Amino acid sequence: MPPLGMGLVGAGVVAERHIAAIAEVSEVRVVAVTDVDPDRAHRLADRAGAAAVGDLLDLLDRPDVEVVVLTVPHALHADLAVRAAVSGRHLLVEKPLATTVADCDRIIAAAEAAGVLLWVGQQQRQFQQVRAARELLRDGAIGTPLLYSERRSNDYSRDGTRPAWFTDFALAGGGIAMLVGVHTIDRASWLLDARPVAVAGTTATPEGWQIETDAAGTIWFDTGCPAHFAWHSGRDFYHETVIVGERGQLRLDPSGLTVVDANGGTERPVEFDADREYTLSFARQYRALARTLRDGAPPEITPAEGRAAVATVHALYASAREGGDRTSIS
Ligand SMILES: NC(=O)c1ccc[n+]([C@@H]2O[C@H](COP(=O)([O-])OP(=O)(O)OC[C@H]3O[C@@H](n4cnc5c(N)ncnc54)[C@H](O)[C@@H]3O)[C@@H](O)[C@H]2O)c1
Repeated sequence: MPPLGMGLVGAGVVAERHIAAIAEVSEVRVVAVTDVDPDRAHRLADRAGAAAVGDLLDLLDRPDVEVVVLTVPHALHADLAVRAAVSGRHLLVEKPLATTVADCDRIIAAAEAAGVLLWVGQQQRQFQQVRAARELLRDGAIGTPLLYSERRSNDYSRDGTRPAWFTDFALAGGGIAMLVGVHTIDRASWLLDARPVAVAGTTATPEGWQIETDAAGTIWFDTGCPAHFAWHSGRDFYHETVIVGERGQLRLDPSGLTVVDANGGTERPVEFDADREYTLSFARQYRALARTLRDGAPPEITPAEGRAAVATVHALYASAREGGDRTSIS
């Protein structure tokens, strides 16, 4: 069976990972790339052995584009996704699904009406340490989870190394919560096998900025285990998750997983090179997507889960405006 044809919209930083990952997956191939910056489109298309095309309409004119992959600024996801769905293309939309819950609903409705797959790119589910932790939790390795906490950083330095749209509310739809918080929310939901129901938190927006660079708070899930999060701006990258259960802890970091037993003994069953693993997480996402489209396997993420992450961010913003009150997620 020929590989599924991917059409990439947006040839920026994450698109480079997508291209590198697709090159490792025989079930998919890049057939076309577009970007408002034609040089970027050409550079990535050349690397992938694909065609660089002018815009989304040109991309949709190609019958070999079976899946449209959106790797563009957040606020552009909704309109582009709806147009691609109406044309009958399956969708892989980078996180966050959209910047508002109404736009998430608009994309979901368009995909349902067209009968196409809508896959949200919460690819952290594909990290080895995350998958191993989920298995251990399901096997009861640390008993019932009692407390989840996650700390991570993101670089909001304004020295030209980050795209300008990151700090432009109209395009980003928010700051650190919208950019990386959705990963924490999705990963906690998936690991705890739970749905977020309420959130309380505080956000910090630097003077003169349109978006928050820091946020901290608590998310409550329908299963009862709360998740505490602290997202901070900083040049140094860190990403640490601790899940405390009745009989031990799981600690996740970008290069592996540590299991702590009730006596404090530690074991490190999963360890790898973090940068390589990052590319592999995208490769596994494409394999999973192909299994769904080719073999009818259940999708590893549902549109409702992509929407839930965005709804949680908006409930956090509402909580922060009200001084940190517990706020329901709808
Ligand atoms: N899953 C992950 O780990 C991960 C990592 C980084 C970024 N992302 C997500 O990927 C998306 C893109 O982020 P990025 O860091 O690659 O940003 P980026 O700025 O590096 O790339 C975005 C690209 O989109 C292009 N673009 C803008 N408007 C366009 C339009 N109308 N049509 C076509 N192209 C257009 C820009 O010219 C740019 O090349 C965001 O949703 C972001 O949150 C996900």
